[in-house]
Amino acid sequence: MRISFLIALPAIFFQSIAWGQSANIDRKVDSVLALMTLDEKIGQLNQLSSDFVATGPITPDGDKQDRVRQGKVGSYLNMTGAARTRSLQAIAMQSRLKIPLLFAQDVIHGYRTIFPIPLAEAASWDLSIIERSARIAAIEAAACGIHWTFAPMVDIARDPRWGRVMEGAGEDTYLGSLIATARVKGFQGKGLGSLDAVMACAKHFAAYGAAEGGRDYNTTDMSLRRLHEVYLPPFKAAADAGVASFMNSFNDINGIPATGSSYLQRTLLKGDWKFNGLVVSDWGSIGEMINHGYAADMTDAAKKAITAGSDIDMESRAYAGQLADLIKRKEVNESVIDDAVRRVLRKKFELGLFDDPYRFSDEAREKAAWNAPEHRQAAREMARKSIVLLRNDSIKKISKPILPLSNVSGKKIALIGPLVKAIGDNNGFWSYSWPDDSTRIVSLWNGMENKLGSTKNLSYAKGCELTGSDTSGFAAARLAARRSDIVVISVGETGNMSGEAKSRSDLKLPGMQEQLVKEMVATGKPVVVLISAGRPLVFNWISENVPSIVYTWWLGTEAGNAIADVLFGDYNPSGKLPMTFPRSEGQIPIYYNHFNTGRPFKNDTDNIYVTAYTDLRNSPRYPFGYGLSYSKFEYGKIVLSADSMSVGGSIRAKVTITNSGTYAGEEVVQLYIQDVAASLVRPVRELKGFQKIRLAPGESREIEFVITEKELAFYQEDLRFMAEPGQFRVFIGGSSAAEEGISFWLKAR
Ligand code: BGC
Repeated sequence: MRISFLIALPAIFFQSIAWGQSANIDRKVDSVLALMTLDEKIGQLNQLSSDFVATGPITPDGDKQDRVRQGKVGSYLNMTGAARTRSLQAIAMQSRLKIPLLFAQDVIHGYRTIFPIPLAEAASWDLSIIERSARIAAIEAAACGIHWTFAPMVDIARDPRWGRVMEGAGEDTYLGSLIATARVKGFQGKGLGSLDAVMACAKHFAAYGAAEGGRDYNTTDMSLRRLHEVYLPPFKAAADAGVASFMNSFNDINGIPATGSSYLQRTLLKGDWKFNGLVVSDWGSIGEMINHGYAADMTDAAKKAITAGSDIDMESRAYAGQLADLIKRKEVNESVIDDAVRRVLRKKFELGLFDDPYRFSDEAREKAAWNAPEHRQAAREMARKSIVLLRNDSIKKISKPILPLSNVSGKKIALIGPLVKAIGDNNGFWSYSWPDDSTRIVSLWNGMENKLGSTKNLSYAKGCELTGSDTSGFAAARLAARRSDIVVISVGETGNMSGEAKSRSDLKLPGMQEQLVKEMVATGKPVVVLISAGRPLVFNWISENVPSIVYTWWLGTEAGNAIADVLFGDYNPSGKLPMTFPRSEGQIPIYYNHFNTGRPFKNDTDNIYVTAYTDLRNSPRYPFGYGLSYSKFEYGKIVLSADSMSVGGSIRAKVTITNSGTYAGEEVVQLYIQDVAASLVRPVRELKGFQKIRLAPGESREIEFVITEKELAFYQEDLRFMAEPGQFRVFIGGSSAAEEGISFWLKAR
């Protein structure tokens, strides 16, 4: 009793300090608000963009600087660099109330030092290193005058046709929620106000990733239960982690554009979740409600968006143009505007901008962060942990796998393919190019050269372009292959083929690349294929005919070094797929935690009246959670601490994992649970825990997962989150296809 009192005291003490600070900020916010004219308030809700076009046409808007001077702009997008932000801030300081601007940017996977695309980082299943990646991005961005990143994207995505899968954490809600938390913590560091913290933004609220047909910006339609169970938890996790802002989204959900959804923004986010940060629209999404057919004109759009809780208008100019009239006509209450403005001002106070509007625009700090070697080192580590080894079979010639290449040291390697010497592609979508990038980004060729210390044992032929039908380079590629002992082929998408507005209906390797791989295999030389892409691709022939396949995504500045580390075994690959890889586009959407049907597919029966395709197996090419290592991990039998637990209790599941290979390596041990029969149909299994462990050759370790009611609960028909008594099945293994299942019972209290 006494001990717990002593422990509780500091917590209460600090909470009251935090409360005191927040009450203090609220008072300051109110004092500024009291001075503001209606036009100045609306100005705070108006976000302009610099002339750098990222994702859409810039709205023409006369003299933007003059608007800043008049206090008609609250935040600015795509304006970066200590000098540029400082000079624009100086103009804001000429406005009547001298309210500082917020500078925002899409810092998605690194700023100056580019880290792997977020989907690749998710493949590491390593939360601390993902947090560090966001931390470094924040350090670099904040040093260049940026206060706010439009990241993390926490949209669950089950459709690889959607180009934006590259920007999120993949298909799983549990993993996605943990990664959302890690990224928010990384961006916001010790908290807003630190000079190296930027405001994070959970986007796109909500269900943008469920776009029908995988076509960007498309409509979504789903039950409220699915929305709560699958799509909302990563947003809730971000809110719980203290994310400073949310961005709504382009799509409609069940007929209501997210930007105009009161249910999402007012009832849930600002109501049930008590979110006191700000909500920004997506680019032009307020005006786009007219195209949706949800708003009659810009006035109607502005009214619907602000009423629904969308605080800042990015690039629609709907608020700047319409809100004043709407208030005069009493169609919108000024208290609604006040609430939105308060949210913006509060962040400006928290960032310390009212004390010093230039505090982030510091050229000396910018210079120091610009070339920090430890950032590159971290990027390399993140990149190698993102790589997924898909196949590494023994080949006859050497009676062992080709990888790691140290198995075959001293041999001549032909590097073939259109991506071997690619530079800019390595950055992938949502990254910035700086004038010296071509000297900084490490291509595969350079990475191999760095590793070997020379190009003596390397040869190169491009073979073909990434797209198009030209095969005139095949002959040179064949020759290079024949003169070598091993052929490493680098194929994939261009770095720009996944991302916003990059939906694809055909997920096969573009151009003549698969043909190039076939030509190389036909030489009879041992072949390794590296696939670089921003999404799961479909590459059946390669899967079936190439003994060693490595998925390298887009890995950023240190790509080539990281790939060479993995190829030569200086890093033993440990990545696991954060999305299911289909055999064919026709299987999409395909995800591991689907519902069962009344006629489940079974391998061992001739009954055709089951859920199946007549021309294709149901199973994916590679399941969620899958990824190999140069080590071999063997799982023992799952042992439960009891065969039942009561509501409120817990049960422990243990399993022993042995590294029976010859390399030390890391394994992501995954726990899946199935609710066997419930009042609503439940997924065939769901990820509920994982641990990433490192084992020396021959080492065994017992891993324990504690299962509580939380792991068994689900959203009931009335959206209550609770577990139901009954039977549960537990699976533990190295992917979502883990076979070993054991049951226990949850008993009513
Ligand atoms: C994207 C957002 C992004 C915004 C600003 C939009 O097109 O959907 O994710 O933050 O542009 O660049």
